Amino acid sequence: MKIVAINGSHKGKAGNTNIMVNAFLKGAQEAGAETVNIFLAEKEIKYCKACKACWFNSPGQCVIEDDMAEILSLMEGADIRILATPLYFDNISSMQKVFMDRMMVTANPYWGKDKNGECRHFTTSLPPKLIMIANCGYPERSHFEVISHWIKRHARNINTDIICEIYASQGALLSTNADEVRPIITTYLKVLETAGKEIATEMKLTEKTAKLLEHNFIPDEIYIQEVKRYVDNILKK
Ligand SMILES: Cc1cc2nc3c(=O)[nH]c(=O)nc-3n(C[C@H](O)[C@H](O)[C@H](O)COP(=O)(O)O)c2cc1C
Repeated sequence: MKIVAINGSHKGKAGNTNIMVNAFLKGAQEAGAETVNIFLAEKEIKYCKACKACWFNSPGQCVIEDDMAEILSLMEGADIRILATPLYFDNISSMQKVFMDRMMVTANPYWGKDKNGECRHFTTSLPPKLIMIANCGYPERSHFEVISHWIKRHARNINTDIICEIYASQGALLSTNADEVRPIITTYLKVLETAGKEIATEMKLTEKTAKLLEHNFIPDEIYIQEVKRYVDNILKK
């Protein structure tokens, strides 16, 4: 089992997204999976030129010279691809989107209607299954609606399945050192490790783990107050 994570946080290794991905991959590794953690923030990924040379001039080969080829080779043989992102203005990060557009090189130029009567690219080899991991600053889980819809559309477009979606609102708490909250985060990261183990062994989450991952860390009202206090303190300086 090979699991490759593509982390689209502009903060890279230092981001809250990585706190989630790291815990998940740790569990997966412990269960015997080979894992690769790729930080787009450390790579040079230029915009897709939409020239379609990768379809018509040099099939499967992009004309742009940057780190995309290296990422594609790291993704080779993956059973699962994790798309990890912070929520940026209700959507995936721009870094993640630029990367996704460059995945055009892997798409088959032929497309047609699927069994549900909707067009999608034909696939010649089985694409990896997908996991979506995201965190956001606001406390409500409804902020992930666009990402959740997008990953479902994307999975259908490339003819693959989503294994699970893991979302953490109140994302600022993932990296907090506050004594009252740290134990809650530690427990959450343990659940993420369990999730990684379950995926690596069973390719699915148990109902119990899925439920535990859906809880907010602290009551919304307290979170809102604490974030306000934090902002006040910084702006006073
Ligand atoms: C440009 C930008 C846009 C953001 N937009 C949202 C948003 O629409 N909703 C939200 O809840 N949080 C938003 N956030 C907050 C981030 O999702 C949050 O800080 C997250 O923990 C960042 O993860 P990271 O540390 O991995 O980058 C935004 C942050 C940035 C920098």
